[in-house]
Amino acid sequence: MAAVIEQIVPVMLGERSYDIVLRPGLLATVGDRLSAFTTSPKIGVVTDRHVASHYLSTTLRSLRKAGYDPTQIILPPGERTKTLGTIAKILDVLARHKFERQSLLLALGGGVVGDITGFAAAIYQRGIPFVQVPTSLVAQVDSSVGGKTGVDHRLGKNLIGAFYQPRAVLIDPLTLRTLPSREWIAGLAEVIKYGIIADEEFFAFLEQKMPALLKLEATSVNHVITRSCEIKAQVVAADERESDRRRILNYGHTIGHALESLAGYRGLIHGEAVGIGLVQEADLACHMGLCDRDVVERIRSLVQRAGLSERVSQRSFLPMWKAMQHDKKVVGGRVVGVWPVRIGAVVIQPIEQPICAEWFQTRHGRGRRSSIGRLPSKAPVGRKPRAKGDRSR
Ligand SMILES: NC(=O)c1ccc[n+]([C@@H]2O[C@H](COP(=O)([O-])OP(=O)(O)OC[C@H]3O[C@@H](n4cnc5c(N)ncnc54)[C@H](O)[C@@H]3O)[C@@H](O)[C@H]2O)c1
Ligand SMILES: [Zn+2]
Repeated sequence: MAAVIEQIVPVMLGERSYDIVLRPGLLATVGDRLSAFTTSPKIGVVTDRHVASHYLSTTLRSLRKAGYDPTQIILPPGERTKTLGTIAKILDVLARHKFERQSLLLALGGGVVGDITGFAAAIYQRGIPFVQVPTSLVAQVDSSVGGKTGVDHRLGKNLIGAFYQPRAVLIDPLTLRTLPSREWIAGLAEVIKYGIIADEEFFAFLEQKMPALLKLEATSVNHVITRSCEIKAQVVAADERESDRRRILNYGHTIGHALESLAGYRGLIHGEAVGIGLVQEADLACHMGLCDRDVVERIRSLVQRAGLSERVSQRSFLPMWKAMQHDKKVVGGRVVGVWPVRIGAVVIQPIEQPICAEWFQTRHGRGRRSSIGRLPSKAPVGRKPRAKGDRSR
């Protein structure tokens, strides 16, 4: 039998440093890995109904075997759960069960569970330890790393929150086997983003291995998660609170967020909108003379091969520009974007409205035949509602 390899990616944040550990089958031994982070027997396991049905019993068994006394908190799945109301309910459970400063919260689930649990951990008794056990691709490569926690407000997504780092991120890639394929493909958009912003070799790996990735081939999947975490960890270590360098993680998100919000957060899920943003922002960068056309074409081709769309259904510029300005990447009325100069390198630079308008009219404006409006043959199908706007990711 092949040896199971454990990979560790350190996130260097001074006294808040922690490890991301990836190991197939890790979930069954999760209880053995917590002793460094808590001296209390009480562990709150926060999860959602979908994830609970697959992984809660394994997790609880491992925790009990390691001598802990777990309390389960099972939330309804989906973005609508990401509210202050849910936080209040979690805090109620913790207080009722007499959780103390040393008691630990474990986030078992996707980005929604991770963001909620991290925020509850940040504010209960002014901060208790928490560990991320991410189970979706988005959570394993993005949301569990970096310490952004929080919930949505009626007037905007991720409007309430705190920077609060986990004590560890424990990844069992085998959990991805039960992830719905639409969620898997949406997560690939964030993975492709890492190649574009930081690593041409990784981008080339994705070009070569996309068919294997779509079949969840284990070696490729593990490499994708580890390399994505390394890139995010490096960026976050250089700029924990998003003053400058961390902005490069927003590549694809200026147009992505605008499209998500124009679609009323229904129809497109976040990663699908980011997939469109990756292609369109490269095209806009090319229009501005920042990169060559072949950069755009490589990105377009990879996005299509992942099964993501690159289609902009929006035909009027002003609503789109307005939606782009609703994002927090706005300085003095200009939109600060992240633009590829080649695969593996980006620049952060504001864009003026007339330039963006000119690009938009050429590509997507009314009466124009969009040269980049084709759907890939493997476009994801099915639609499901998604909640309000995302301002920060
Ligand atoms: N904190 C950050 O830096 C950051 C970064 C990116 C995204 N986010 C947030 O993350 C959220 C999106 O995360 P997400 O895409 O994981 O969404 P999610 O948590 O809603 O998970 C997507 C769906 O997959 C299900 N699921 C998760 N893991 C599963 C598994 N292994 N098997 C079967 N089903 C599974 C969930 O129940 C849910 O229905 C958003 O709220 C977004 O704002 C945060
Ligand atoms: Zn994103």
